[in-house]
Amino acid sequence: MKRIALLTSGGDCPGLNPCIRSVVRTALADGIETIGVHRGWRGLIDNEMELMNARSVAGIVNLGGTVLRSSRCPEFREAEAREKAASHLLEREIDGLVVIGGNGSLNGASELARQTNLPLIGIPKTIDNDVGGTDYALGFDTAVNTAVEAIDKIRDTATSHERLFLVEVMGRNRGFLALQVALACGAEGVLIPEVPTDITALCAQLERCREAGKVSSIVVVAEGDDAGNAYEIARKISGQSGYDPRVSVLGYIQRGGAPSAVDRVQGGLFGKAAVDALRSGESSKMVARRNGQVTLVELELAWKETRELPENLLELARILAS
Ligand code: F6P
Repeated sequence: MKRIALLTSGGDCPGLNPCIRSVVRTALADGIETIGVHRGWRGLIDNEMELMNARSVAGIVNLGGTVLRSSRCPEFREAEAREKAASHLLEREIDGLVVIGGNGSLNGASELARQTNLPLIGIPKTIDNDVGGTDYALGFDTAVNTAVEAIDKIRDTATSHERLFLVEVMGRNRGFLALQVALACGAEGVLIPEVPTDITALCAQLERCREAGKVSSIVVVAEGDDAGNAYEIARKISGQSGYDPRVSVLGYIQRGGAPSAVDRVQGGLFGKAAVDALRSGESSKMVARRNGQVTLVELELAWKETRELPENLLELARILAS
């Protein structure tokens, strides 16, 4: 194996740069060149690539975002676009491809691998932590910490004014982020897509908290909750209670910022594992963290396996919100 290509695809997250650095430097240590593809699948279709070296990844371990840039590229679902992308990899005599992506990007990667027979390894990332086959996706820990820091500040003003706040965090399909953040902030409620939202029950729960002497309340809402977004839920709550809730949507700040130590180290481990896998002849696999260990799983688990929300965390959130 002489030359590999590397790209970041889909929504960005903290941890991508440490992972890029690890792929490039692990490959170099094995005498393998890394070609960095700019702007994810978009850049592969448009043939935007550069040779990377140890210096081109210097000083990035602490940076948010991705030095390779990223994109959402619906066009990559078309076989013709993938043909074009594959031809660029062929021209540059690429022997293997590493894709750092979420479940959509890794699905696209598997189509490319099928079409070209190119050895391909995926690395899971997304602040939503909803990639199947792995207990951890890069970016989650940093996003949790970013949201927690913001909500701790919101708690100050909520307490001063004895208010209820609905704080919306990202997570369009899954509630991993919302649940973790709610636990870490001591939230009085958490609304997630996996559990049907009952506004009457929520109001009763908030009332119980008030009667128990709590002066402020925070409800963490996942953006994909079935009762609507945080503004819609706030309207429903004030429609059937005496509350006059305030809303704060944390939005894209959760996707940026310096990666946490967890994401830096995990990015390093995932990057090395991906290069090792290519070198040992693996293909159509994803590096994963399972039971605390870095391992290899079938790539298709990324979008075929639905990760369960930890029941014990749901229970803990219910108990501690009293
Ligand atoms: O990458 C995951 C995510 O941040 C989701 O939580 C959010 O719904 C979505 O991406 C936003 O996507 P976009 O970057 O296309 O606005």
